[in-house]
Amino acid sequence: MDKVLQKYNNDLKARPMAEMLSDPGRFDSFSCRLGGLLMDYSRVHIDEAAKTALLERVHTRGVLKARDRLFAGDAVNLTEKRPALHMLLRGNCVEQAQRPKDAERALQSVKDMLDVAGALHEGRLSGERPAAVTDIIHIGIGGSLLGTQLIHEALGSRAGSVPRLHFLGSVDAHAREALLPSLDPRTTIMVAASKSFTTGDTLLHARHVRDWLAQSLDDAEVARRLFAVTGADQKAVAFGIPAENVFYLPDWVGGRYSLWSAVSLSAAASMGPKAFKGLLAGAADMDRHFLEAEPADNMPILMGLIGVWHRNVCGFGSWAVFPYDSRLRLLHSHLQQVIMESNGKAVTTDGSPCDHATSPVVFGESGTEAQHSVFQALHQGTDVVPVNFVGVIRPSHGDTEAHSELLANMLAQATALACGRSSSETLEQMKSDGVSGAEDLLPHRVFHGNRPSEVLMLDELTPENLGRLLALYEHKVFVESALWDINAFDQWGVELGKQLAPEVQSGLAGEAVDLPGLSGLLGYIRARS
Ligand code: F6P
Repeated sequence: MDKVLQKYNNDLKARPMAEMLSDPGRFDSFSCRLGGLLMDYSRVHIDEAAKTALLERVHTRGVLKARDRLFAGDAVNLTEKRPALHMLLRGNCVEQAQRPKDAERALQSVKDMLDVAGALHEGRLSGERPAAVTDIIHIGIGGSLLGTQLIHEALGSRAGSVPRLHFLGSVDAHAREALLPSLDPRTTIMVAASKSFTTGDTLLHARHVRDWLAQSLDDAEVARRLFAVTGADQKAVAFGIPAENVFYLPDWVGGRYSLWSAVSLSAAASMGPKAFKGLLAGAADMDRHFLEAEPADNMPILMGLIGVWHRNVCGFGSWAVFPYDSRLRLLHSHLQQVIMESNGKAVTTDGSPCDHATSPVVFGESGTEAQHSVFQALHQGTDVVPVNFVGVIRPSHGDTEAHSELLANMLAQATALACGRSSSETLEQMKSDGVSGAEDLLPHRVFHGNRPSEVLMLDELTPENLGRLLALYEHKVFVESALWDINAFDQWGVELGKQLAPEVQSGLAGEAVDLPGLSGLLGYIRARS
């Protein structure tokens, strides 16, 4: 892609990461901090010269101009002619004059949502007639679920406390049928989150949950237990949700960026409005940092440059994230959508084919589970996978032994990936362990190292630090999209399958359909249904 960067990469191959990491000043030069969030990128296989060359791309590829257009409310989502202003929901970084017409309505909707969430957090519905709430069924899919579920798991109510949250996403009814019999309709509410209010999975579950409530309650009681967050309020009202229970989601907030909006009603009910506001404040802090910090100290810019280094210069096709904190176990699900739906594009902003690779394939798992499932391939597989480790310094429990073991594992993995273990060290180790046939085993037991990772350390898993972390990833994705000249805010690739599904459904029901290659499989399924 870039001959100059390629040359740096080739030259760096002669300098093992282990050697670079032995420089005592490396941590200071290859890390940066914002509040209680540290990013250590010393295990990325670059040196000062390569970093400087990468930073030059910020100017030559117009990253700062793209960032300024984003915050100015320009229609950066070109194919849908919309701005992408989710940052407006969490702070004051967008000038009054540049705000969309419905900005006040969207902000008011978050305030109203927080009022309802405050009452729910205390186990009741707001309003004059008291009604206890023990359980919330959040229905939504993709961006209308993943972020909310992540922040609830990270910051929300713990086992034994109410309200309890339950999530229904995929149209698969097994989850719903397992859930409803365990709930009391008199103390359960439903939140249907759907920007379009047309998504089949969400509407099907919502109809069933509404009907389940109606089996036990009169119409007025059902209605007050139904909530929606949507950009299509008329559709939600037509569904039977009272207008006062419908929260507005503007079209300038993309689904995968909507966790900052009223979409997070159920999570805000679980963690409480104060914590949700802390999350917004942390994200706003990252927005300011992205806008104001010099590129060389700017976390999203550095992270985006590293992403492009790995994807386009080194040619690595995947990327993995491993949070060493079970409260963040859903981080990879959320980031999969944020990264792959945003940057999984093959044409540039003017519609011409990209001559460079874009989004990597993203996966993840919580540590240390991942060590016992996928890390074999990361250490010794044929493909190099750049990794993000996410750790928390001070846990919210008192088991210091378990926590130090957890953190030690994370740092050990980062070190093993970077430094590996040479043939001579491996042989020596095997011999001192008395391993027979050490020479024959050697190729199987060597670690070649030079496998990159970034370590993100949170002082504590506070709402503010989580807000910073999630906004960091959003902006990293934007920086990459600017470097790749692609639109990070549309998602046309999800449409075709959705359009074909109704015809396939007719085929499953036995109707003749014109779908190449499917008749054999449809017949097989029908015969066994
Ligand atoms: O199918 C993709 C998608 O449009 C996502 O971008 C979005 O987050 C999800 O579906 C849900 O859409 P909605 O909120 O309109 O139900």
